[in-house]
Amino acid sequence: MNQLGLGVAITGSGSATPAASLDNHRLSQIVETSDEWISARTGIRSRHLADAEQSLSDLATVASQQAIAMAGISPAEIDLIILATSSADDLFGTAGKIQAQLGALQAVAFDMTAACSGFIFGLVTASQFIRTGVYKNVLLIGADILSRWVDWSDRRTCILFGDGAGAVILQADERDRLLGFELRSDGTQNSSLQLAYEPQPQALLEGTTIAKGTYQPITMNGQDIYRFAVRKVPEVIEKALHRANLGVEQIDWLLLHQANQRILDAVAERLKIPPQKIISNLEKYGNTSAASIPLALDEAVREGKVKAGDIIASAGFGAGLSWGATIFEWGR
Ligand code: ACO
Repeated sequence: MNQLGLGVAITGSGSATPAASLDNHRLSQIVETSDEWISARTGIRSRHLADAEQSLSDLATVASQQAIAMAGISPAEIDLIILATSSADDLFGTAGKIQAQLGALQAVAFDMTAACSGFIFGLVTASQFIRTGVYKNVLLIGADILSRWVDWSDRRTCILFGDGAGAVILQADERDRLLGFELRSDGTQNSSLQLAYEPQPQALLEGTTIAKGTYQPITMNGQDIYRFAVRKVPEVIEKALHRANLGVEQIDWLLLHQANQRILDAVAERLKIPPQKIISNLEKYGNTSAASIPLALDEAVREGKVKAGDIIASAGFGAGLSWGATIFEWGR
């Protein structure tokens, strides 16, 4: 797939979640729900939640430090930092704060937003800088604190989300391990899942009005998102596999955005991928949005499940609507 002769290797991973967790039993004291309902419909049993002392940049920095250590490089060698998030500490961008906290002072740093597809979109974006020969070492972070934006009185959404951060290091290499990808967007379905700004008109002077509003809690049509994910995710994985010139049987692991176990199982079934190849940790963390894929990847790597040379099919999907898949080989 790579025409330029410069390859990408993913050489380190890290992750961090807030210490405090909230299991389904305790959540049922906040909204009318039950452990049985949540675990049967989603597979989620608990989620970690950031308190007022914990910033997104702090979680992201811990995850990044672990990824940098695993890759065996120093922060000063990082050329680019991309933070995929929908819940930045600062709307002007949080990547710069992470750059400072890491001491990665040579790196250019910016945020990007593609909701729960953010990590996959970021992986492809980061790879372009390496493939063109511009940068050698890129830190890609997926991090979200969606608990800040959840309506904690809405049982249809508050049961789903948790907070966390995950990170990977991408490095230039002779052999390309990003074997194929496919990214998609469909803004016509944007209203199915939103964390939208609601303007409140404020008159400054006669004839001059500005919109002084705020972001409103997450709204979601759960059934639409469920159907969208189960239909569209297998398509992009098949397209990415085609680009990689690989068959589905050559995949070692299926690593999907950790939204709902039923979505993971349905996608695997459609692709005829056996259940033992599904990487899943959403039982402990819920849906951590842009963090979910690198968080699950890091756990699987540290458990010794994912090994160097393993082929991973990874797909993100969510608000936008956005969805995308990459096929990559882990490690070097
Ligand atoms: N506890 C108990 N009952 C509930 C709860 C709850 N937490 N939530 C909804 N219900 C009730 C509803 O009120 C409804 O009752 P009614 O029939 O009396 O009206 C009934 O359960 C069924 O509700 P549905 O919304 O139809 O439930 P569904 O089977 O669709 O499951 C769910 C809901 C789990 C959200 C499912 O639609 C889903 O997983 N969708 C995908 C959502 C998702 O993954 N989003 C994130 C992806 S994108 C991103 O990551 C940002």
